[in-house]
Amino acid sequence: MTRDSTSLQVLPLEDRYGRVARDLRVSLTDRCNLRCTYCMPAEGLEWFPTAETLDDSETLRLIRIAVEDLGIRQVRFTGGEPLLRRSLEDIVAATKRLRTDSGTAPQTAITTNGLGLDKRAARLAAAGLDRVNISLDTLDPEHYRRLTRRDRHAGVLRGIQGALDAGLTPVKINTVIMPGINDHDIVSLAAFALERGLELRFIEQMPLGPPDQWDRARMVTAEDILADLRTRFELTPAAEPRGSAPAAVWDAVDREDPRVSGRIGVIASVSHPFCGTCDRTRLTTDGAVRNCLFAREETSLRDLMRAGATDSELADAWRAVMWAKLPGHGIDEPSFIQPDRPMSAIGG
Ligand code: 5AD
Ligand code: SF4
Repeated sequence: MTRDSTSLQVLPLEDRYGRVARDLRVSLTDRCNLRCTYCMPAEGLEWFPTAETLDDSETLRLIRIAVEDLGIRQVRFTGGEPLLRRSLEDIVAATKRLRTDSGTAPQTAITTNGLGLDKRAARLAAAGLDRVNISLDTLDPEHYRRLTRRDRHAGVLRGIQGALDAGLTPVKINTVIMPGINDHDIVSLAAFALERGLELRFIEQMPLGPPDQWDRARMVTAEDILADLRTRFELTPAAEPRGSAPAAVWDAVDREDPRVSGRIGVIASVSHPFCGTCDRTRLTTDGAVRNCLFAREETSLRDLMRAGATDSELADAWRAVMWAKLPGHGIDEPSFIQPDRPMSAIGG
């Protein structure tokens, strides 16, 4: 594809509060092979028809504009479940051929439920994938079946091992804690992760799924999670600065066996929002750009692209979306309204 001459200069994605987006989240499909209760209803959702979703060349055109014209330095592929996109390896490889404004290839990562990752981890690593985050909310196969409505716990464990074997390290584990469901698994999940050299991140549940699945008053907070962890682990704040990373990271040592140690993160998205340092921008599988998970508005770059927009017109439209980014998500305010899209159609 030829680049028009007006788009050669990088003008980053700034907003009126001085934040600059460097991290692009690309949802590669809204479909998923699990039905996590906090994410989807049992029957699944109405998926986007293929004609409404971006094909590989459209997806890659927008990633190229993001990296070459808008200053994006890291690209994370999400879903739904990104491994359901058969061309994922090709998309990663093409992304790694781009150069950021600092002259290096962008960092690439995926957020996945891990199913089938054992079979693809080596190919993804060869394509240039740098890191993976794998979702695992419990170590109990029966709890897992209830939580995801699928009997596939063993498959996730194979996926985690596959990622470790392929050297996609540090392998991170995402765990959403829900009251009465997996809040008793906090210590055992942390021990599991530390014993295997995995970096686990506990995530406060956010109001992004079926409305009856979230209740601020009952929510398990970062404080609750840390109190539980301290019953078994010595926690000290990790040394390096946090920057835009959502997780507060701790160095953890197991009191029962001090040889078991490593890092554990806690993402307090609700109780201690980190919107003030957010550096993210999001592209949905149907080509909409969103400035926040919780945004009430978005712009379809797909429609502009299919109507013949140039690279610089697409870049300008993307900048305009980011300029309108609100200072925070406002989950704790009475006026908060859940976004119209479910999490699986936004991208985690
Ligand atoms: N709150 C917090 N995290 C969520 N995820 C999905 N839904 C929610 C929610 N309501 C997480 C998944 C996965 C990533 C895509 O986002 O557990 O790790
Ligand atoms: Fe699938 Fe992730 Fe939603 Fe679970 S949370 S149903 S793995 S998209």
